[in-house]
Amino acid sequence: DPRPAAVDTYFKAHLHSANYHAVLETIHSHSLVAGLPDIACSPTQAKFLMLQARMCNAKHILEVGTLGGYSAAWFAMTSPDTKVTTIEADSGFANVARQNIETAGLSQRIEILEGLGTTVLQSIREEVQRGLREKFDFIFIDANKQDNLAYFNAAMDVSKDRAVIIVDNVVRNGMVVSAEEAEKDDRVKGTRELIDVIGKLKGIEATAIQTVGEKNYDGFLIAMKV
Ligand code: DHB
Ligand code: MG
Repeated sequence: DPRPAAVDTYFKAHLHSANYHAVLETIHSHSLVAGLPDIACSPTQAKFLMLQARMCNAKHILEVGTLGGYSAAWFAMTSPDTKVTTIEADSGFANVARQNIETAGLSQRIEILEGLGTTVLQSIREEVQRGLREKFDFIFIDANKQDNLAYFNAAMDVSKDRAVIIVDNVVRNGMVVSAEEAEKDDRVKGTRELIDVIGKLKGIEATAIQTVGEKNYDGFLIAMKV
């Protein structure tokens, strides 16, 4: 179906001004040239997430899964004093992201922490507990889906009251509803485990929204600490 991509093109043409665009498009194209998989958020998705962060007046954003730094660069557009901390396990991806962020002139506002998500988040937990690091007000989880629950639990620990936590790729072409798919695909399993837990947690309001567009049929989970 060509319509979702055509509609994204239309919305980008009309709603995405040139302010942001040169720098972000450079990051996207350089990431592809460097051989990274084409799995970053689309421009309309990334701007949607940035606007959500702006609506929260987010100043300290945490991202799990940097890839080439595309969404991190968008998050840096939240406000001139917003700081982004982004975690990447793949050293090749992290190198590309560092180059991209440097080229974009965003190194002062985007901190790339290289290492396994669970390991780096444990260090962040300890820093937060010791008062060495501020709690985050907005967290985007977009890394290996098998560890979604661990990332979410860490996100709960390192975020402020009323923080917003968004998780990418919770629909996966509709596979999320299938226990059978989950048995075959760890990524679906990881997301289903997370959704089970969030549904029973106190102190959080959540829903999920399905998306179409230039990327495949997928969706975001959005949760808020209440
Ligand atoms: C995959 C991962 C993502 O974060 C995404 O947005 C799309 C696809 C993947 O691992 O296939
Ligand atoms: Mg994703």
